[in-house]
Amino acid sequence: MQLRKPKWGDRLEVEVERVDERGLGVGRAQHEAGEFRVALRRTLPGERVAASVLRRRGERIDARLEEVLRRSERRVEAPCAHYGACGGCSLQELDYGGQLAVKRELVERALRSAGIGVEVEPVIGGASPLRYRNKMDFTFGNRRWVEPGEAEGVQRDFALGLHPRDQFRKVLDVEACEIQPQPFDAILSSARRVALEQRLPAWDLAKHEGLLRHLVLRRSVATGEILMQLTTSSEAPELVGPYVRALLAAHPEITTLVQAINSRGATVAMGERELVLHGSGSIRERLAGLWYRVSAASFFQTNTAQAERLVDVTLEEARVTGSERVLDLYCGAGTLTLPLARRAAHVHGVELIEAAVADARRNAEENGIANVSFSSGDVLAWFASAGAISCDVAVVDPPRAGLHPKVVELLAGISARRIVYVSCHVASAARDIAALAPAGWRAVRARPVDLFPQTPHVECVLTLERAT
Ligand SMILES: C[S@@+](CC[C@H](N)C(=O)[O-])C[C@H]1O[C@@H](n2cnc3c(N)ncnc32)[C@H](O)[C@@H]1O
Repeated sequence: MQLRKPKWGDRLEVEVERVDERGLGVGRAQHEAGEFRVALRRTLPGERVAASVLRRRGERIDARLEEVLRRSERRVEAPCAHYGACGGCSLQELDYGGQLAVKRELVERALRSAGIGVEVEPVIGGASPLRYRNKMDFTFGNRRWVEPGEAEGVQRDFALGLHPRDQFRKVLDVEACEIQPQPFDAILSSARRVALEQRLPAWDLAKHEGLLRHLVLRRSVATGEILMQLTTSSEAPELVGPYVRALLAAHPEITTLVQAINSRGATVAMGERELVLHGSGSIRERLAGLWYRVSAASFFQTNTAQAERLVDVTLEEARVTGSERVLDLYCGAGTLTLPLARRAAHVHGVELIEAAVADARRNAEENGIANVSFSSGDVLAWFASAGAISCDVAVVDPPRAGLHPKVVELLAGISARRIVYVSCHVASAARDIAALAPAGWRAVRARPVDLFPQTPHVECVLTLERAT
């Protein structure tokens, strides 16, 4: 007789074993039809929980937490009022030591499953696991996510905040965010209030109409300067002018304001065109003893204090002593390039975004660093045009997707004696490192740094050397 498989609504008792890279607790449950792997939110390793089945795919079940039957000693009260509804910060109910342990295990699993047998060092944690971000990217939307417990009849056609979990078409009104700097809470609330007072329509993702699309805030830890980038669907100076003037009057702490225009369907904060409406268009930040000019379009590490640790670890791993030629691929505005240049003979940075390269050049000049050069464009195209590349150390710090397979091929053949792979998504790095192995490259150290407390994300510096 065929046993009935679990279906929607069935109750299960789950032993939670670990947290996966989405921040979900993962464990096992016994059912009359056998043992099943279960993934569910808001649960921690070592807990036994009662859960109800949401869906089943083969032997894997997604479930909803109903009750914690045996509680982890590391369980804490989530600090954020939006926890549960908001799509970010899924580790908030785990104490910080527990978060660091989970992240180390995530790095270990990702490397192990790609066949990479390197010991992973303990994750370098930060002093402030809250209020650590220097940048936030908010979305305007005309389909508001109404949280449980909100009054009946709340306005639903305007919201400014973050996407709820798995709901990319809706926007959750964020009143306060515990990982952003304090001044952002008030600016966000004014941006919402003034938009409603002035009856400015939020972007409609389905119909592609409306004016306000994104609001990015950046704050320098060193100077307190704040950059606001407002993305709109058209220039509309008759609407944007009064809006911006009201925000600047209410928040003189906004030192520069940039309008980005994006009329396309794609939901990116970066626009087709940018207009500097107030101030210089950039803020100055201090990192590793150097000054950086950060403009709206440039990548800059979002946790300044922990970026210091990341730079320290990268420099230690690059082991440059003064005579080396270094290649810094995916160099952004030069956050790794310039500290490396202070210790090496020469560093060449390659970066796709023109504005970031312009920032990197200016940063080098303003810090009196002359032994650097930059190329703007795609790394793959640069490799193709650069011919035989001769360098002693290569640093690569690609986006989450990791390296293009052709970039891996070209990197495998360079003359460097060491590759330092700085990764914000270790599964991609593990795949790339495994693909470098046939050319003799081996990971010799893995040193994670926590730049993203409260979330399952982790940065990792992986050092590769040629097997002799
Ligand atoms: C993770 S960031 C690292 C930036 C820099 N190393 C830092 O620490 O600030 C990745 C960078 O790669 C750039 N990028 C993305 N795709 C690229 C490509 N195909 N070629 C060159 N650069 C690229 C992005 O613009 C971004 O600045």
